[in-house]
Amino acid sequence: MAKSFAQQIISWYKNHMRELPWRLTEDPYKIWLSEIILQQTRVAQGLPYYEKFIAKYPTVHDLAVAPQDEVLRMWQGLGYYSRARNLHSCAQSVVEDYDGHFPETYEELQKLKGVGKYTAAAIASFAFKKKVPVVDGNVFRVLSRFLVIDKDIADPKNFKLFFEASKELISEDQPDLYNQALMELGATLCSVSKPACLLCPVAEECQARIEGKQTELPIKLKK
Ligand code: ADE
Repeated sequence: MAKSFAQQIISWYKNHMRELPWRLTEDPYKIWLSEIILQQTRVAQGLPYYEKFIAKYPTVHDLAVAPQDEVLRMWQGLGYYSRARNLHSCAQSVVEDYDGHFPETYEELQKLKGVGKYTAAAIASFAFKKKVPVVDGNVFRVLSRFLVIDKDIADPKNFKLFFEASKELISEDQPDLYNQALMELGATLCSVSKPACLLCPVAEECQARIEGKQTELPIKLKK
């Protein structure tokens, strides 16, 4: 039988992934921290902050008991200080309300401060291997092209469409690698203006490539 979309992107990912520290752990604290730092921040900029936070606060408990002004100082240069305040308050809530253990489900994770659908899916899948699709800008782009979905990705009403599309494609036994692979494909080969289709593991079945529409997708209307 032909390899599925998930199998193809996972094989590609295993050979081409960037070995980022939060990809080499299943610790939900480290995964959560990396995802909060990487919201609105590029990997190259976020990486030294991640290393610095993990060195100073190796566990969620260490972060929870740190003084807020120290946490804000550690955050200096990343901007969006509400993220740092939410980070600190989320760590306190994990310690106080969840006995120091991050909740494991997509629904429960979204109750934490600063944890939306994207971050909840990332933690549930990367740390707890739940079959929840992670949908970020990269995923919107890859899926809108692979399936030729011409719905506006800036319209929150269309989020569910992409979430459900990814749920159809997700790997049963490696949902974490599937999500990482999809994001990595979008972050590297399947770029906005110059997708590297010649290197892409799923180019042959990519409907946008077949129709020559790669750079017309995704549709993103101004708000
Ligand atoms: N950006 C946001 N989350 C990421 C992750 N897990 N790996 C690489 N880049 C990311």
